[in-house]
Amino acid sequence: MDYIHWSMQQDENNICWLLFDYKDSAMNILSSTALQELDHILDQINDSKVQAIVFKSLKSSGFIAGANIKEFVGIDYDAALELITLGHTVMNKIEAMKCNTISMIHGFSMGGGTELSLACDYIVCSDDVSTRLSLPEVKLGIHPGFGGSLRCIRRIGPLAAFDMMLTGRAISAKQARRIKLVDEVTAQRQLERAAIAFAHKKPSSRKQSIKNRLLNNALVRGFLARKISEKVARKAPKAHYPAPYKLINLWLKYYDFPKKMLEKEAISVAELVADPTAQNLVRVYFLQEQLKSLGDKKLFTPLHVHVIGGGIMGGDIAAWCAFKGFQVSVQDQDPAILAKTIQRACQLFKKKLRDERLITNTLDRLTADHKGYGIEHADIIIEAIFEDAKVKQTLYQSIEPRMKKGAILATNTSSIPLETLASCLKNPGRLVGLHFFNPVALMPLVEIIHGEQSDKKTIAKVAAFSRHIDKLPLAVKSSPGFLVNRILMPYLLEAIIMYAEGIPAEAIDKAALEFGMPMGPIELADTVGLDVCLSVANILSESSNTPVPEQLEHMVKTGHLGKKNNKGFYSYRNGKAQKDSTRSYKNMKDVQQRLILMLVNEATACLRDKIVDNEDLLDAGVIFGTGFAPFRGGPIKYIHDNGKHDLQTQMDSLKKQLGERFTQDNGWDLV
Ligand code: NAI
Repeated sequence: MDYIHWSMQQDENNICWLLFDYKDSAMNILSSTALQELDHILDQINDSKVQAIVFKSLKSSGFIAGANIKEFVGIDYDAALELITLGHTVMNKIEAMKCNTISMIHGFSMGGGTELSLACDYIVCSDDVSTRLSLPEVKLGIHPGFGGSLRCIRRIGPLAAFDMMLTGRAISAKQARRIKLVDEVTAQRQLERAAIAFAHKKPSSRKQSIKNRLLNNALVRGFLARKISEKVARKAPKAHYPAPYKLINLWLKYYDFPKKMLEKEAISVAELVADPTAQNLVRVYFLQEQLKSLGDKKLFTPLHVHVIGGGIMGGDIAAWCAFKGFQVSVQDQDPAILAKTIQRACQLFKKKLRDERLITNTLDRLTADHKGYGIEHADIIIEAIFEDAKVKQTLYQSIEPRMKKGAILATNTSSIPLETLASCLKNPGRLVGLHFFNPVALMPLVEIIHGEQSDKKTIAKVAAFSRHIDKLPLAVKSSPGFLVNRILMPYLLEAIIMYAEGIPAEAIDKAALEFGMPMGPIELADTVGLDVCLSVANILSESSNTPVPEQLEHMVKTGHLGKKNNKGFYSYRNGKAQKDSTRSYKNMKDVQQRLILMLVNEATACLRDKIVDNEDLLDAGVIFGTGFAPFRGGPIKYIHDNGKHDLQTQMDSLKKQLGERFTQDNGWDLV
């Protein structure tokens, strides 16, 4: 058999090096062809004649990125089981080798890559910052499926293993050493030497610590499994995300019977991967990759970023850019606000970096600049001042003569048409919308708004900058509310109308959370700021006949601005909404239906208005911009999955009951 992805080299120490170099790809993936090859190779090796087998990647990008996710798309149960069984066969063969087996990791090792390592006797890895190990399957709605669930628990104990498998987060080499996932961490140049040293060690007789034996004991497992499930349920309800619960259950029921646990693991993942949740999450993964590809970092790397407005958004944008490595100055008309901006940035850096030296270095990159000296030096200026066209235009006129030639002006406006803002500029092409979402550190999307006047190269540069700061750029046409706010607003306003009808805020929020939203609409309105909501609602009501609820106007008039002044629909203490969990409502399904139909109806309207290029980008924008239940795959996917006709019938019946705002948009015809 000719191998295209793997090659084999035997050295003078009688060590067999299995070299992985996945053909025509920047990274190694354990596709079914790569697994078949490896299976064949393992059969060729006479394991009683070689000293050891070392797995090594020939890619500079990292070790192995995991299974081939493309193979999951549209897969059914039988095909999934066949694929997973192949993975099991290979990993079992590695584990059963008579000689030592060693995995040598430099760079990332994800999913199947980490599972392959777990099947080896020893794992050695480089201490490079790029070395990160993870089992992120849960993010795709599945769990480790190549024997990794059993082997991970066996190697590092249930607490550390579940922490890795249930969060999907990647850990550094140092952390991996601390939890005994890897046997040695060394400088990259010493890595081969370390692997050779393990080749000559006695076969490992890895013994579990007393603590881990106790935690894996059948009597303790029941209690611990319940506790872990309760913790998971706070973030990922069982009805929406079955994978974590199936994984916990495998351990609970079968840990004492390893062979059975492996068999059941394969069945469990085959069931999960064919399920709509995983299929939608796989789709979301590819949408994310698509958005990433829309910004080419090579096109633009600013040396200096200047942010004007140190409020909720500007302050956080400045902090985020400094965190991502840029030299940033942040300007505000009010020095007291700037002091708070720096304080907030410091909190973010502490939370993210946890290392005094790194925190100080990052803070050094962020300068409070009350007078705006940074304007002359900046390659990109991000404006995030009050949402008022006149105020913004006055600012632009004063700063344009001071800006460097070729410097970009990006506005974070939520609703003002770019053409209006650009009309006061001598060079209107330099203005692009760069619309961040709140909270900046958490929300992955930025809308790149192009007006008719925007220069195409400038748009591409802003998309490049978005990738430098690790955000997902989405090109959006300049039109009231752009994409995300436009779709979100009817949903938020419906929530406010229900609140005015007397439905408790807590119940409205709960209905949305049960649908799978990350935050309820009432709390979201408070978080965005009720003044900002009102301004967006006013602009949208002009173009779409959506009435602005009196309740919202009243709240703003009476000084209820939301979380920012601790007074909104909820009151806030230490930034936390004070909710009364006893306040309930009997008809939660109705609440949910009203909210979601308003949202999907507006989504169809955006398709009609060609706000983004296609359905996929629309779904991506709403998922990454609002956190719209990812397991549902986005609003348009929701229509496809739940039957367009049924949803239209529901719209008609709500229209009869509640009025014109439930009129179906013509955009439904395009879905
Ligand atoms: P904010 O009221 O918290 O902050 C605005 C800041 O700009 C204030 O600190 C103010 O002192 C400063 N400022 C006003 N005029 C200035 C000038 N001429 N020169 C220097 N500083 C000036 O407002 P927020 O919420 O941060 O919004 C800022 C922009 O971001 C708005 O355009 C808003 O529509 C947009 N936005 C807001 C979101 C939110 O969730 N709050 C989300 C996305 C966009």
